[in-house]
Amino acid sequence: MARAIYPGSFDPVTYGHLDIIVRSSALVDELIVGVLNNNAKTPLFSVEERVKMLEEATGNISNVKVIPFEGLLIDFAEKMDAGMVVRGLRAITDFENELKMAQTNHKLSPKVETVFLTTSLEHAYLSSTVVKEVACFGGDISQFVPENVERKIQEKMSKKESVHQ
Ligand code: PNS
Repeated sequence: MARAIYPGSFDPVTYGHLDIIVRSSALVDELIVGVLNNNAKTPLFSVEERVKMLEEATGNISNVKVIPFEGLLIDFAEKMDAGMVVRGLRAITDFENELKMAQTNHKLSPKVETVFLTTSLEHAYLSSTVVKEVACFGGDISQFVPENVERKIQEKMSKKESVHQ
């Protein structure tokens, strides 16, 4: 059984991530979306919220599972018995960091291959950071994220506003 991991922060999931999930899940028997729980970063959404948003957004794809992880990606891949890590490449600016990560991971575990999918052109500019910035200033994010995520971001932003009032 070919099982792959698509890891990320997903803070929050965007249409760019979903494009990679749809396309990579068609290439394998099972795709595990690995949501990084990293205490060193302060994400907008908790890992539970990020997992839930991803589950809602991928509920229509039968071979996709969403699982949080901590620590090394390669340990998670081994625990899940996955031989492949999928990453999306948007532009040349992603390349340097992605190459470093893939090569480090290959050194740590040569059994796990990193496979890159190029992001579809219509999502090439998109990132979770851009979505949060637009939302923070009240811009329309409906073309960047699914409806469930848009609602969640708006909830978060209005809570933040009421705290600062
Ligand atoms: O969505 P992101 O933030 O670009 O995802 C980055 C992620 C989660 C894939 C990366 O930070 C990661 O794999 N972190 C786990 C720690 C690890 O294994 N580091 C060694 C690889 S350099």
